[in-house]
Amino acid sequence: MGHLFASRALLSRKSFIREILKVTQSPSIISFAGGLPNPKFFPVDEIKNAAVKVMETDGANTLQYTITEGLPSLREWISRRYARRGVDIKPDEILITNGAQQAVAIIGKTFLEKNDHVVMEKPGYLGAIQAFEFYETIFNQIDIGEDGIDTAELRKVLDAQDIQLAYLIPNFQNPTGNVYSEAKRRETAELLKKREILLVEDEAYYELRFEGKPLPSIREYYDTNHILLGSFSKIISPGFRVGWCCAKKPLMEKLVVAKQANDLHTSHFTQKVIAQYLADNDIDRQIQRIIGQYSRQCRCMLEMIPRYFPPEVQYTKPTGGMFVWATLPEGWSSEELFDVAIAKDVAFVPGNAFCSDASLGSSMRLNFTNSDEDKIEEGIKRLGSAIKELFSKKKKTSVIA
Ligand SMILES: Cc1ncc(COP(=O)(O)O)c(C=O)c1O
Repeated sequence: MGHLFASRALLSRKSFIREILKVTQSPSIISFAGGLPNPKFFPVDEIKNAAVKVMETDGANTLQYTITEGLPSLREWISRRYARRGVDIKPDEILITNGAQQAVAIIGKTFLEKNDHVVMEKPGYLGAIQAFEFYETIFNQIDIGEDGIDTAELRKVLDAQDIQLAYLIPNFQNPTGNVYSEAKRRETAELLKKREILLVEDEAYYELRFEGKPLPSIREYYDTNHILLGSFSKIISPGFRVGWCCAKKPLMEKLVVAKQANDLHTSHFTQKVIAQYLADNDIDRQIQRIIGQYSRQCRCMLEMIPRYFPPEVQYTKPTGGMFVWATLPEGWSSEELFDVAIAKDVAFVPGNAFCSDASLGSSMRLNFTNSDEDKIEEGIKRLGSAIKELFSKKKKTSVIA
């Protein structure tokens, strides 16, 4: 008898976040774990009206198969949206995918061989680690600070390794919430361009800016071996599973074939409903409502942390996105903290989920978008008490030892 599973299926680990989401189903738990939007802002009535309109005006066609590339009117809308910020991306340089996550997965399938080296941030996006792990790649994670990736370290890695692909999140990075400065964007582009390394620039959080002015994409400085990702998940609905990737023709042709082999196309129905919703509603108003509320929730979390956490805990101060990244003093384990916290009905994602080598054990990711302010205050209070309990337990055992 041969084998049941392919070796890559045995290599890939379960999503820790999905596992945590199972634990956090209980209504008494306040969860800062998932990366979920606040459901208060899902445009339920508007989507209902759009769906009815699509069915009434073009029902039979909408229920038919469609082209892999995606609905032309939706790709035109996305192209116009880029044009508004001075970015020139033609509709035929856009491929609609099942969320940005599918774009990450088909990029892996299209560009990665076993033992290829990939650059990403440390901590980095768990979904990309998971997707690329399937191709048995080697991760080179590079520290990300308040103003972006450590470009000196990036240069060192690029000099030392033959890097196949870099995957970066310059805006409100998941999980730190950090933003690359303009200088870091330029420098990163120069380093990659010189070596013609494929850059995947993930802009899933681009629209969730609470303050400051938008910065140019890295694409502005390096657009040949470049793929830009976007998504409707954070501004309309993640349940719709509609995102996209943008690339020039030679790259795009291969991505389309990879997607075709995967699922033929993203649901025609959901694409039509989103396009109708966008035609009939003011998306900027929707985005303004979301970021108004998220910035209040973020501010609330940033006010509660120093009130309830011991002062030794460090944390990022995001100006957008969905997450705060907090770090316990060295040697303390956020996985141990997780058990104490769950007993107090509060959850988060331990830091090791965001690296490939279990070296972020004292950090944790806290989501602020899915809980209203009263829950954030109560949750941070519970988490603060869990941290203090862990600290005092540890102190006692070290005295005994
Ligand atoms: C950086 C990043 N990229 C992509 C995704 C996936 O988004 P989508 O829902 O569009 O698949 C996420 C989801 O949290 C994310 O954080």
